[in-house]
Amino acid sequence: MGDGALDTALSGGADLLIVDRSLAGRLPVTGPTILVDASEQAKTLAGCESVVLEMRAVGIRRGHHVVAVGGGVVQDIATFVTDIYMRGLAWTYVPTTLMAMADSCIGGKSSINVGGVKNLVGGFHPPSRVIVDPAFLPTLPPAAVAAGLAEAVKICFCRGQDSFETYLEHYASFEQEPERLLFHVLDAKKWFIEIDEHDRAERLLLNFGHTFGHALEAATGHRLSHGLGVAVGILCALRHPAAEQNPGTAALEQHCRLLLSAAPDLDEVLDSVDEPRYEQAFRGDKKHSPSAFRLILPVAGEGVRQVETPSDDAGWAAVLTATRESLGSLRRAAA
Ligand SMILES: NC(=O)c1ccc[n+]([C@@H]2O[C@H](COP(=O)([O-])OP(=O)(O)OC[C@H]3O[C@@H](n4cnc5c(N)ncnc54)[C@H](O)[C@@H]3O)[C@@H](O)[C@H]2O)c1
Repeated sequence: MGDGALDTALSGGADLLIVDRSLAGRLPVTGPTILVDASEQAKTLAGCESVVLEMRAVGIRRGHHVVAVGGGVVQDIATFVTDIYMRGLAWTYVPTTLMAMADSCIGGKSSINVGGVKNLVGGFHPPSRVIVDPAFLPTLPPAAVAAGLAEAVKICFCRGQDSFETYLEHYASFEQEPERLLFHVLDAKKWFIEIDEHDRAERLLLNFGHTFGHALEAATGHRLSHGLGVAVGILCALRHPAAEQNPGTAALEQHCRLLLSAAPDLDEVLDSVDEPRYEQAFRGDKKHSPSAFRLILPVAGEGVRQVETPSDDAGWAAVLTATRESLGSLRRAAA
C-alpha cells in the first residue's frame, strides 16, 4: 500500500502504462503510455480493440509487463486487454477510486459493455500485483467516496458481524487513516475470493444489494451510480419480507442512509425511477432462475444468505413494495 510503491512501479518494470486520461498530469509518466477515457463507451469491444492496436503500435510483446492506473473502467479495460493480447500479459493494477481500492482491485474480473448492454462480456485475469495508494483519495468527490464505502460496508456485513463492527470502527477514523479500513475490507473480500474464486457459492453473497441496485441504476438511466445504487439496494433488501433481522441490520441501515446523504441530488435521481424499466431490469437479472428470484438477504444470526422467492405476481409485489417504501423513506429524510 502506498509508501513509494507507485513510483517504483511507474519508473521500473513497466513496458506500458494504461492510464485514466484525467489522471495523467498527476503521474510521473515516462515511456509508452495509453490514455483512456474513464467512460462506459471506452469499456466496449471497440474501445478495447483500439487499446490493443495501440499496444501493437508501441511494440508490446509476450513477456512485457503492463501497469494500469485508474478506477474500475481502466481496470476492466486493462484486465480484458492483458488477458487477450498475445494470449496474456502480466500486469500491475493501481486503483485510484475508493470503489476500486476497496472492492474491485481484487477478484480479477473484467466486464465489458457490448451492444449497449453493460458488463455483458468478460473473464478472469487477475493482476500479479495491486498497489493501493490512498494519496489518490482526496480528489474524489464525496459521492464517489460514499459509493466506494457502500461496497466496502457491504463486503464486511456479508463476511459477518465481527467484520461489520470492525468496519464501523475503522470508518470513524477513515479520513485520518484510510489504510486501516482499506486493509480490513480487502482482507474480508480476500476470504470470498479464495474460497470461491469463480462466483459459484460464497462469492455470490457479495451480490447483496445488487439485484435491487442494478435495476435502480437502469431505471434511472444510470443517473444513480453503481455504489450508491448498492446502498439503496441494501435498504430495499432489508425491507423485503423474506429478510431476517440480525444484530447488524439496524446499524447497516443507518450507515447506508449516512452514506447516501453525501449524494447532493439523490432525491431528484430517485424521483426519476421508471417502474416498468425497474421491473424489466430486476426480472432480467442473470442470477434468477426461470421461476424464482434469487435474492441475497440478511439472515438471523449474522450476515446474509441466498433466498429463492417466486417471481410470480405476488413475488414481484413484495419486491416493489420494499422498493417503494425504501425510496419513500429516503425522500422523506431528504425533505
Ligand atoms: N471488474 C470489476 O470487478 C468491477 C467491479 C465493480 C465495478 N466495475 C466497473 O467499474 C466502473 C466504475 O468504476 P469506478 O467507480 O472505480 O470509477 P471510474 O473508473 O468509472 O471513474 C469515475 C470517475 O472518477 C475519475 N477518477 C478516477 N480516479 C480519480 C481520482 N483519484 N480523483 C478524482 N477523480 C478520479 C475518473 O476519471 C472518472 O471521471 C464501472 O464501469 C463498473 O462496471 C468493475
